[in-house]
Amino acid sequence: METGVEDIGYGRQFEGWYDRLIPDDRVTAEAVRGLRDRHPAPGAGTLEFGVGTGRIALPLSRSVGPVTGVDSSPEMLAALRAKLPDGGDVTPVHGDMRTYTSKSRYALVYAVCATLSCLTTPEDQRRAVRRAADLLAPGGRLVLETHNKPAILALHEGRARTTYFVPYPEPGTGVQTHSTLLDGDLWQCSHILYQSDGTTRVGTELTRLTTPDDIDGYARAAGLEPESRMSRWDGTPYSEGAPLFMCSYVRA
Ligand SMILES: C[S@@+](CC[C@H](N)C(=O)[O-])C[C@H]1O[C@@H](n2cnc3c(N)ncnc32)[C@H](O)[C@@H]1O
Repeated sequence: METGVEDIGYGRQFEGWYDRLIPDDRVTAEAVRGLRDRHPAPGAGTLEFGVGTGRIALPLSRSVGPVTGVDSSPEMLAALRAKLPDGGDVTPVHGDMRTYTSKSRYALVYAVCATLSCLTTPEDQRRAVRRAADLLAPGGRLVLETHNKPAILALHEGRARTTYFVPYPEPGTGVQTHSTLLDGDLWQCSHILYQSDGTTRVGTELTRLTTPDDIDGYARAAGLEPESRMSRWDGTPYSEGAPLFMCSYVRA
């Protein structure tokens, strides 16, 4: 069915096992706390770009009220809908963060877990930040979390390809990632999940690496003021060695 929403196929790669890629509940809880603590006005509206399976939006909605979650993947949104009966106030919206618009304005707009990096050109990343900025209420805040380019380059130790394995607590399980740096700051990762029943799943994603300065540039062009940079949601200051960074912006 033609929906008019361009989809990169993320949900088809990770359908049924996306949540297993981030099995540590403490990682999710820290992000949810970090967003809740940075919400300028809980109850005055929250919007997530790239809501996925609702990993963050569902628990966040329990403390800040309704969350609107935009995603271009029908499969990810279906996984989110399936979780709604267990609690959480999230409205799934099939849309593209490069073009999404609405009459509503939100006190907090956020995109986490490297959703912005799913856009593989600077132009598209800039467009999404502009959309987010336009959807903020006066005094609202934009919070972004994405891959940290210098740390990913360091991980490769000068090589274009590398492989690493993250064991999970359950014996015989974990995720092996085959990581390739491509031209144009593109980063391709193929993840192999080893499951306890002996089966595997494979998912490939292509993202575009950025620095906080890149994102600050997009935000300033969209009329936002850079506010903070962190390496962790607990407020740890930004460092080049951290795999992810979070940054926040305010709308005057
Ligand atoms: C890494 S997942 C993050 C999901 C969720 N935010 C989380 O933290 O678990 C990235 C999500 O962004 C979505 N996405 C990618 N490109 C998009 C676009 N142009 N517009 C809206 N969503 C997009 C994907 O479908 C996927 O669900």
